[in-house]
Amino acid sequence: MSKESKSYKNSPKKFFIKTFGCQMNKNDSSIITTILENNDYKCIQDHCCADIYIINTCSVREHAERRALGHIASLKKWSDDKEERVVAVIGCMAQRLASEITRRYAFVDLVLGPDSYRKIAEFLGQIFDTKTRIIETKLDDELYGDICPNRSGITDFVSIMRGCDNFCTYCIVPYVRGRVRSRSATEIMSEIQNMVRSDIKDITLLGQNVNAYSYGNADFSGLLNRVAQTPGLVRLRFLTSHPKDLDEATINAVRDNDKICEWFHLPLQSGCDRVLHLMNRKYTKKYFQELVQRIRQNIPDATITTDIIVGFPSETEEEFQETIGMMTEIDFDNAYLYRYSPRQGTKAFKYESLSEQVIKDRLKRIISIQNKIAVNKARQMIGQKHEVLFEGPAQNNATRGKTRGNMEVIVDKEIAPGVLNDVIVKEVRGRTLIAEFVK
Ligand code: SAH
Ligand code: SF4
Ligand code: F3S
Repeated sequence: MSKESKSYKNSPKKFFIKTFGCQMNKNDSSIITTILENNDYKCIQDHCCADIYIINTCSVREHAERRALGHIASLKKWSDDKEERVVAVIGCMAQRLASEITRRYAFVDLVLGPDSYRKIAEFLGQIFDTKTRIIETKLDDELYGDICPNRSGITDFVSIMRGCDNFCTYCIVPYVRGRVRSRSATEIMSEIQNMVRSDIKDITLLGQNVNAYSYGNADFSGLLNRVAQTPGLVRLRFLTSHPKDLDEATINAVRDNDKICEWFHLPLQSGCDRVLHLMNRKYTKKYFQELVQRIRQNIPDATITTDIIVGFPSETEEEFQETIGMMTEIDFDNAYLYRYSPRQGTKAFKYESLSEQVIKDRLKRIISIQNKIAVNKARQMIGQKHEVLFEGPAQNNATRGKTRGNMEVIVDKEIAPGVLNDVIVKEVRGRTLIAEFVK
């Protein structure tokens, strides 16, 4: 069909997407938008005028599921308000709880797991035509590699692999996203070249365990070095690294390429060997310490951030203290701290949980310690010069941007998005650096 005949087509159906969860889900929402737009559906930002409401859900912790379930429940009225409205629940929670969702919410018309988006336009067409309900949660080797989402802005993500084979005993991801598989380097390179042509300057290579990237002869460090050569690309990052798979060649690539930002997100999860073993993380405290040492020897100003889970089943107070000890010793620039959430179907689900009170108390203590560490680290940046890529306006004619270490910076001046310039840090407000533009 030609472009013209498309645009004259009578009122295309309008869809609205609400996305919960991680960057993988956000990236999937962009893929779905592209699939639907290629099939004459129209993406809108206000659900009031939409014909289709898509909720892309997360399952990683109970809290994430409760939010998504609450959101679905709240759509009954939206669905009843007009005839012919379609509610679609997709993503990781749809994969895990498809039958529960359809049983509890009669107004949900479409349920799709993460590997079933390719047929979303076709399914919606069938639902509008025949009012049937469709549920599809088969996991396969889908990569959506040929679908190049429309993008705009200064920063964006490109998925280089999907799934995870690590089976950390607490984690639902391998069950809802399936086995690990990687996109071809050629496809990735062509998507990145398109992104650079659309003026995207800061690109993050994305996957649940990017260091496990493997396609033909290409491994992760090879891909990273290759992408870093892209003309016009300003900054390159990657997310998330599993400590067991972050190799010397990748650290060297970060050290040797100006475009690759010196930022490592290295989830520690626990600072105690017994707990790490129970979590099936496949590294020890000593290995992690040596890895950080290797990074800092090669790249002294590297930013290192982490994820930590507190209150894993059978974690003792002493073992929790070991995690705190590691946090202070490593001096993470930032840490995402989570209370353990049992996920049905995972190995750890069978372990006896600690009491609610103990978990809550540990989380509270670790948050307060980490806040002090992070504020202290940020304060050390006062007076230092940092390279900032400006992304867009902030309040009161100021402009926000990011350092190479992914820290948020505000400069009290109007600066065009996409400008790369040095700043001097003057002050720290919460986690944000307030800085002055260097002329
Ligand atoms: N693939 C990435 C991130 C996966 S999910 C990695 O391995 O690092 C992001 C974070 O959520 C994890 O790092 C972990 O800290 C946390 N998480 C995963 N499952 C969890 C659970 N059941 N309870 C609490 N936190 C969890
Ligand atoms: Fe989950 Fe572990 Fe895979 Fe990360 S590496 S997604 S925590 S199983
Ligand atoms: Fe991401 Fe949540 Fe799924 S963290 S992979 S959206 S379970």
